[in-house]
Amino acid sequence: MELQRQISRRLHDEHVAIIDLLGRFGRALERLGAGPPAADDAGWRVLLAQLGTALEHEITHHFDLEETQLFPRLHAHGDGELAELLFEDHEVIRGVTRPLLALVARARLGTLDAAGWRSLKALGLELVDRLGSHAEKEQGALVPLVDELLDEATDQELWTHYTS
Ligand SMILES: [Fe+2]
Ligand SMILES: [Fe+2]
Repeated sequence: MELQRQISRRLHDEHVAIIDLLGRFGRALERLGAGPPAADDAGWRVLLAQLGTALEHEITHHFDLEETQLFPRLHAHGDGELAELLFEDHEVIRGVTRPLLALVARARLGTLDAAGWRSLKALGLELVDRLGSHAEKEQGALVPLVDELLDEATDQELWTHYTS
């Protein structure tokens, strides 16, 4: 699919990136098993850092763009049901991501105990599932629609706002 608008291309790229990161996170969680990883596990530490940055961006800038600029346009276009569905996903995903980010921060400091590790693993696997399927859903339904709905001037305006 050839996307015409900068905003839809950017959404597409961010979805691809988060799906890839969640895939790596999910595989690492499965591989690491019952106990927290060793403090010198370099691959895990890099993954935690990437995850912290990416999830923070996802539930603030990325979700805000969709909720404040794109979902209202879906409503106006008669696609309010899709917008509502995606918004409900966001609420659930924020609810999982916030406590997970706190655990990721503790893991990066090396202060995560066994109970904290179990929570991180459970919330992490839940997020992989929920955010992974949400991003896939948006790739299939939201991105093509946004590409169709935005005219060039609006695209430019949203792009300037999003990237500044
Ligand atoms: Fe979304
Ligand atoms: Fe999205």
